[in-house]
Amino acid sequence: MTPTQNFPIGATVTLDQMSKNPYPIFQQMIAHEPVSWVPAFNMWLVTRRADVLELLRDAETFTMEPEGDQINPMEDTFGPMMLSLDGPPHKKIRDVFVEPYRPRHARKFYSGLITQTAAAIVGNIAKHLDQHDEIDLNQAFSDQLAVSIVVATLGFPVDDLSQFRDYYADFGAAIGNIKFDPTIRERGQRAFQTFRQLVLHEIDTLQQTANDSVLSQIVHDAKSQLTTEEIVSNVALTFFGGVETTAAMLSNTIWALLKHPDQLADIQSNGVLLPNAIEESLRWESPVQTAMRFPVRDVEIAGIPIRKGEKIYGMLSAANRDPGFFDQPDIFDIYRPNANKHLSFAYGPHFCFGAPLARLEATIALPMLFDRFPNLSLIAEKETPPAGHEFRATPTLIVRKK
Ligand code: HEM
Repeated sequence: MTPTQNFPIGATVTLDQMSKNPYPIFQQMIAHEPVSWVPAFNMWLVTRRADVLELLRDAETFTMEPEGDQINPMEDTFGPMMLSLDGPPHKKIRDVFVEPYRPRHARKFYSGLITQTAAAIVGNIAKHLDQHDEIDLNQAFSDQLAVSIVVATLGFPVDDLSQFRDYYADFGAAIGNIKFDPTIRERGQRAFQTFRQLVLHEIDTLQQTANDSVLSQIVHDAKSQLTTEEIVSNVALTFFGGVETTAAMLSNTIWALLKHPDQLADIQSNGVLLPNAIEESLRWESPVQTAMRFPVRDVEIAGIPIRKGEKIYGMLSAANRDPGFFDQPDIFDIYRPNANKHLSFAYGPHFCFGAPLARLEATIALPMLFDRFPNLSLIAEKETPPAGHEFRATPTLIVRKK
């Protein structure tokens, strides 16, 4: 389906542009074409913050589920789960999963774990930097912390993270498999079956003895009416949701602060500034750029007609740079008063419930990194700024101590 109306800005957009530097295009779209048909995506792009908010809020009109026989690759890999369901079936699952991630609960149960894990990671970075001039913090810090924490909070053993990295890689490939290559699809489904056995084994153990893990809380939630399969599919989603996103937030924040050394120096002399700096980084370089929805009936957004079932991308990253809401949105400013009004964790019924855990990881671990290495710097000739039109992160983050 291609709309008859003309969308000149959308017509010129390329995926490469969107991946490298979408921000000038977003500004043009917000000003002149806030709902645009983009052939490169074969989708509608909605860019103004108010329109993206409405798209995400009105889950009765804009659903997660594609029309007819179109396949949702995430559901194809994990089975039905929160990011393929709406209304009461979604709420039934979310109500149970959201509890262990509430800010107070996350702080109480996971602060110690994050501190210990970050201390070990920073110690390993120090050992590496004793013998080498530089290190890639994407792997050595961000990925290491994000994977360890999501795996540990779910209650799985963290002594062998490589198997979880393998699951993640196979899930990621299957979910991004827009051409439905059967080999990639099968590999994703096989990985899910092995992951499923691991979760079933853990549930079995937890039924005998409870612990502090998220899975234990879910299994022992007296109000829960979830089937074992619902738990398994949504644990897989939660694991998947907590890795690349969180690693991207950590790396993008380090990169943004190293690019703005005056602001980093302010945080180093006054730690109270860090939480808003993390929000500003999430706004400025959103790890997740898009939220996909499908209208259940013919609709209009900002006066543009969209037919039932057509794919719509709510551009979280464009909404985060809407000049009608954020003053001078392309500037990174840790003092921005409304930085935390970004949509990087989305909005409405599917708002990311992992947000408190992600924020906790950043507020605990980043000061540990910057305290141990107060003079970290980027290496200009090796610098790779954040990139990507769906997930957006620094491809590498190579730094030296001085
Ligand atoms: C900075 C880190 C993170 C970012 C930027 C992020 C972003 C998002 C976004 C944008 C959504 C909504 C998608 C949509 O509406 O289409 C979402 C949902 C979700 N996220 Fe996160 N996320 C992060 C961390 C986490 C963590 C740590 C976890 C797990 C502990 C997690 C688990 C989930 C789950 C399960 C959902 C689905 C919720 C639902 O459908 O009700 N996320 N996330």
